[in-house]
Amino acid sequence: METCTYKDKTCSKTVNKYNHDGTLLKFEAFTDYVESWINKIFYHSQENKGKYNELIFVDCMCSSGLYYKYFKKDEYNYDADLFREGTGYKVIDKFRNYAEKFPEFNFTIYMNDYDEKFIKCMYCNERRLNTSDVKNLKIIYSNEDKYKFIDRITSLKEINNNKAHKLIIYDPYEVDFNWIYMKKLLKLNDSDLIITHFYPNDVKRIVNLENLNQDKKDVITYSYGIPFDQIKEYFYSHQTPSVRTEYFRELFNKKVKDHCYKKMSYAPVFNNKERNHVFDIVCISSSGIAIALLKDTMYRLYENSKQERKQYAQDSWNLFGDEQSYVDLRCDFNEYQLHYDDLTLTEIFKRTFAGKTLSKNEFEKVLQEHEYLPTNIKKQVKKIYKYKKMGDLYIFPKD
Ligand SMILES: C[S@@+](CC[C@H](N)C(=O)[O-])C[C@H]1O[C@@H](n2cnc3c(N)ncnc32)[C@H](O)[C@@H]1O
Repeated sequence: METCTYKDKTCSKTVNKYNHDGTLLKFEAFTDYVESWINKIFYHSQENKGKYNELIFVDCMCSSGLYYKYFKKDEYNYDADLFREGTGYKVIDKFRNYAEKFPEFNFTIYMNDYDEKFIKCMYCNERRLNTSDVKNLKIIYSNEDKYKFIDRITSLKEINNNKAHKLIIYDPYEVDFNWIYMKKLLKLNDSDLIITHFYPNDVKRIVNLENLNQDKKDVITYSYGIPFDQIKEYFYSHQTPSVRTEYFRELFNKKVKDHCYKKMSYAPVFNNKERNHVFDIVCISSSGIAIALLKDTMYRLYENSKQERKQYAQDSWNLFGDEQSYVDLRCDFNEYQLHYDDLTLTEIFKRTFAGKTLSKNEFEKVLQEHEYLPTNIKKQVKKIYKYKKMGDLYIFPKD
């Protein structure tokens, strides 16, 4: 086992390495989501607050506490500023803060990764957060294959306790969904599930590989429920990213719906420079609020990054990159605009509501369940489209 010193050159070689900005966005997205999710339980839903006495966070493949950015040509050009804290570390920090604020509640975290050195790194970083002083916070580490881990934890009585509300993250590097195990996560009660779905990058890479082994073909076949050759054929005969996106999202949705009746929402993630769609973050839950939180979290991150961009014109850590480059490179339907561009979202808002009069509940339900519209778009929309509130009614003009 390697030994390392915190944020030293030795540490940079031990922790997880990354070189694309989707990784950073993911940390922000997961951590913001976790915070909104906790707030939803404590501040927005009295019903939930009375119902639960424990919050549980599970990361089926949590990776290391720290990450180190490397550059392909220059991997060992060590620079201490290139460390970033990953989701696991940030979630432990948040849980510790909330555990101190709500001593009557229990907070439990399960961190698993099959890489032993990553778990060791997570534990090392946890100690920097002085968690042992917080009696109502428990962190349980394991070092198992993801499916073995899922199999084990979904049968634990602590996880099946209906006084415990759970948030589970399943975040592989690639398309790998064995539904025998995934269905165990999907069927858990009182739980919200976040999954990363890497089809834009991974399927493209796989169908272009010349000597793909049978095991990988089987993983893809099993993940989507149709033969690999059929997927490959579809990929080549449907060239536009938007058509492929719809196809893979639909295959995935269908597999989820085979196993549970929960609601789903998704948010696409793009890389910085070319604005290529890298993966979707998917949220699966019985709660409309939990689903809407994902759209809202991702929209808020984009809004923040726009503000940051105004301050730092050249920010290499910019999460979403340069809007223009994306528009220029894509000639078909613009997935990015549909989810994060204010003007497009305002136009969709108008088309959805124009000419209608709705009660507050009806208005909120349509927004919450809408495929693209975040519920926190209202302030931006009102700058252009002046709808009114009269008593309990919302009145939306025709234009
Ligand atoms: C994308 S990273 C997870 C990142 C983490 N969720 C975060 O946000 O910081 C994927 C992790 O999966 C782990 N992994 C890959 N295959 C695994 C397996 N079969 N079982 C458990 N962990 C696995 C890798 O070691 C890696 O740390």
